Amino acid sequence: FYEGEANRPLDGRHVIVTSGPTHEPIDPVRYIANRSSGKQGHALAAALARLGARVTLVSGPVTEPDPTGVQTIHVETARDMAQAVEDALPASVAVCAAAVADWRVDGEAGQKIKKDGSGAVPTLSLVENPDILASLSRRNQGRPALVIGFAAETEKVVDHARAKLARKGCDWIVANDVGSGPDGGVMGSTDNTVHIVTGEGIESWPKLSKIEVAARLAARIALTVKERNI
Ligand code: CTP
Ligand code: CA
Repeated sequence: FYEGEANRPLDGRHVIVTSGPTHEPIDPVRYIANRSSGKQGHALAAALARLGARVTLVSGPVTEPDPTGVQTIHVETARDMAQAVEDALPASVAVCAAAVADWRVDGEAGQKIKKDGSGAVPTLSLVENPDILASLSRRNQGRPALVIGFAAETEKVVDHARAKLARKGCDWIVANDVGSGPDGGVMGSTDNTVHIVTGEGIESWPKLSKIEVAARLAARIALTVKERNI
């Protein structure tokens, strides 16, 4: 069928998506990580590509396959992810769906840390990682016209998301409730319940599959790109 403007509203737009966790090495065999399957970010990258966007997906370590029609860059740490995003600019839209580790170990050990048999435990000293979403949002030059963050919250989901929107300086926060459910909630699950928090207000969506959330988000992004002439 005809693949015109209507089907590919994001034609000619470059979109950067971050997805998955980051791994922050403690020593050559151990790391600190966040829980994240990358399902939502990867599905969003694929959905944006289907709408015609040129998508660069910067992914932490995940088992999800690289989405088709998307340029996927694999990274390990938050610092690598920040650099890959920087290298991928400029972009019309950026979506930070990655669960970036907030801290890394200050001075990772070059060799495997060994037990000495006395029961003594090592002390890990942590330093804060770069905030990719906040830096993108606050760029003076080359800020993507639409910057979107995700927020995984376990309580007061909308309140925390509103505060995060202001603190990060992004345009939207897609907030999801990760706390509840006998199945352990949204982590690794195929479903997601999200609230879209913007400067204009809040839109709460029903519980949907992550694929469906991705499709709706991509459509909403395409609409905004059109309305705002991005
Ligand atoms: N994010 C990022 N870089 C970081 C930390 C977070 O890009 N170093 C992005 C995430 O990809 C997400 C958004 O910021 O889009 C919110 O992440 P979240 O962890 O919820 O926010 P934090 O500011 O780290 O607050 P906290 O973990 O204390 O809730
Ligand atoms: Ca965090």
